[in-house]
Amino acid sequence: MKVYKIAGLPGEGTGPEVVKEGLKVLEAAASKFNFKYETVDYDLGGDRYLKTGEILPDSVLAELKSFDSIYLGAIGHPDVKPGILEKGVLLAIRFGLDQYINLRPVKLYDSRFCPLKDKEPKDVDFVVVRENSEGLYKGMGEFKNKGTSEEIATQISYNTRKGVERCLRYAFEYTQKRNKKKMLTLCGKTNVLTYAFDLWERAFYEAAKDYPDIKTDYAHVDATCMWMVKNPEWFDVIVTDNMFGDIITDLGAMVQGGMGIAAGGNINPEGVSMFEPIGGSAPKYTGKNVINPLAAICAVSMMLSQLGEEKAAAAVENSVIKVAREKLKTLGAGKMGYSTTEVGGLVVKNL
Ligand code: IPM
Ligand code: MN
Repeated sequence: MKVYKIAGLPGEGTGPEVVKEGLKVLEAAASKFNFKYETVDYDLGGDRYLKTGEILPDSVLAELKSFDSIYLGAIGHPDVKPGILEKGVLLAIRFGLDQYINLRPVKLYDSRFCPLKDKEPKDVDFVVVRENSEGLYKGMGEFKNKGTSEEIATQISYNTRKGVERCLRYAFEYTQKRNKKKMLTLCGKTNVLTYAFDLWERAFYEAAKDYPDIKTDYAHVDATCMWMVKNPEWFDVIVTDNMFGDIITDLGAMVQGGMGIAAGGNINPEGVSMFEPIGGSAPKYTGKNVINPLAAICAVSMMLSQLGEEKAAAAVENSVIKVAREKLKTLGAGKMGYSTTEVGGLVVKNL
């Protein structure tokens, strides 16, 4: 029997608390569905950085490549200037392991959790495929005349044909496999970003020829935001660049009930992927046993699916749905009617 090797990166803030609940559920799923795993923890994050100056040592990045999967809690420390850890740990792993897809399902588990009037679970069920290795996140740009009244700051959106195409093809294949509406929406801004999204649009319609069973659709990013609120039921799978994907998935998280439930996968289909709750480290709630662990538990479900343990993945998600629907008052931190550890326990019990 294969033993999955999982790297645990609990991070900081509420990260360790939610990861602990996720691992509790993983353990229960392993015994129920008969698979084996072992975890190795890494203390990457603000405390290590403040103590040693190390952010992501090359040796750790190299070791991470030997795992079957990575499970991340949250990165972001109140005593470290914003950007250092986000770029140095999170983005460095995404780029270093070439996790070129950021997969973010937007699924409403109960009407009570939706801020939109009259929307039900059947109306909010789509997936965003965010390009995760290029675009504005590439870090290209410069200052000219920094600090003067003549200052110019540029930030370049870097899009390669290969990078765009591998993302689009993943999205088409994902839409096929998902087998729902079989519609893929390209979210862009072809009317203004006439270089970047010209490439995306050409690559999109050319790739589409290889997936004749998938309907193609296009929406500008501003209109996508409008539709996500007005008619989220329109969408099946949305594919977009790194920056737009970052923005619309926070909107998506709210539509599905908030950061307490939203999970994502940083995926390298040919390599090592990393799964995480998409919310941050929430320093305000740290150590209080009030944060919602369901997003982190949903990340475990996504990880199991990537590992090929589809039955276990579905069982974990179904247990989350049952607990959210039947037990929780709300999905918000401190307002669930249960503590963090109790919610983890309920998911284990209903597995
Ligand atoms: C996310 C986060 C990150 C991003 C930050 C922390 C760098 O917002 O995972 O969406 O922008 O990708
Ligand atoms: Mn984000």
